[in-house]
Amino acid sequence: MRKEFNYFMPTKIVFGNGYIDKVEEYIKKYGINKLCLITDSFLAETSFGQKLIESINGVKVFTEVEINPGIQSINACAQKIKEWDCDGIIALGGGSSIDTAKAASVCALSGESIHKYLDGNPDKIEIKNTLPVIAIPTTSGTGSEVSQYAVITDEKSLRKDSITSEHIYPKVAIVDPVLTTGLSVRLTIDTGLDVLSHAMESMFSKIRNSFTEILALEAIRTVFQWLPVCVKEPENIEARGEMAFASTLAGIAMSHCCGTLPHGLGCPLSGHFGVPHGLAVGVLQKYGILSMGHTCDDECQRIISFVNPEENCKREESGEILLQMIDELFNTIGCEKDLKEYHLDEEGIERMVEDAVIHGCTGLHPVEITKEDIRNIYYKLKG
Ligand SMILES: [Fe+2]
Repeated sequence: MRKEFNYFMPTKIVFGNGYIDKVEEYIKKYGINKLCLITDSFLAETSFGQKLIESINGVKVFTEVEINPGIQSINACAQKIKEWDCDGIIALGGGSSIDTAKAASVCALSGESIHKYLDGNPDKIEIKNTLPVIAIPTTSGTGSEVSQYAVITDEKSLRKDSITSEHIYPKVAIVDPVLTTGLSVRLTIDTGLDVLSHAMESMFSKIRNSFTEILALEAIRTVFQWLPVCVKEPENIEARGEMAFASTLAGIAMSHCCGTLPHGLGCPLSGHFGVPHGLAVGVLQKYGILSMGHTCDDECQRIISFVNPEENCKREESGEILLQMIDELFNTIGCEKDLKEYHLDEEGIERMVEDAVIHGCTGLHPVEITKEDIRNIYYKLKG
């Protein structure tokens, strides 16, 4: 019998090579008179960044986006949007730019600090309205352009928190694979693993459903086939298009199912040790699957038969075979499988355990995860 579910995705998605040029159409459509472009200084200087800036009359440009944006930088961005009297936002970049735009779109309108809206704030206030956001992703990874979340780091505690609301879905996501052809191999791997993680965790989340499963399966199949091609041939536009498509599908699935153990334990790794988000959640996939025992054998079997229809695996062997497939993918793309380089220390691990155990994604893992389980996994990653 089908499980009950809710599905809501109000973002218009336009997908195609060169579609960044369609931005003016949407500025008009949403009646935006004065735009703020939120990006980073590197992207603002690229040829497509410059072209975008030159094409929009009177655009104000905010380039102080932080990697893992913090409360102060969101509030500073919102303050600028208010000062400039902008009534709409374009976010150009990866998750940090898009999350900054989504969060600042709330505060610029309300005048409140983003701290008041954080999911981890026991007195949090509800998000009621935002400025319209046009999201243009330049990586195939976070899926923030199609999600109801924005991740925000508390600079004092280094805890990664988030805001969640149906109101913060961007109005439109312009997904233009051409923008991703200049990504380095390292960024391609890290962001590609984030796509895989969103899709895998959507398959195992306690709140998974029949609808998001279809999106997640296609995203997983696409990552296995095309991420290695993107790594080997960074300018292969067909491969970049496939990964951009997978990122969109996985982002929608994740927005409905949330993550599981890898995102629950991965966010503290980025907050406390600066591990790139995609790498952190990617290396944790193995531990997520191992921790499930045989609880999700059906889901593992479904993934395997979707990725490789000729693989006729037994139900009870499916977890092990999926682990092998992930291990082979890591070998093919040349990605490390532990985090030795990040020098995880005892004190930092204890702080991460405290953050991970209360992270929303950890609670959605299909089996219960204790502090001891979390600590053991961090020590394994430490190498
Ligand atoms: Fe992620």
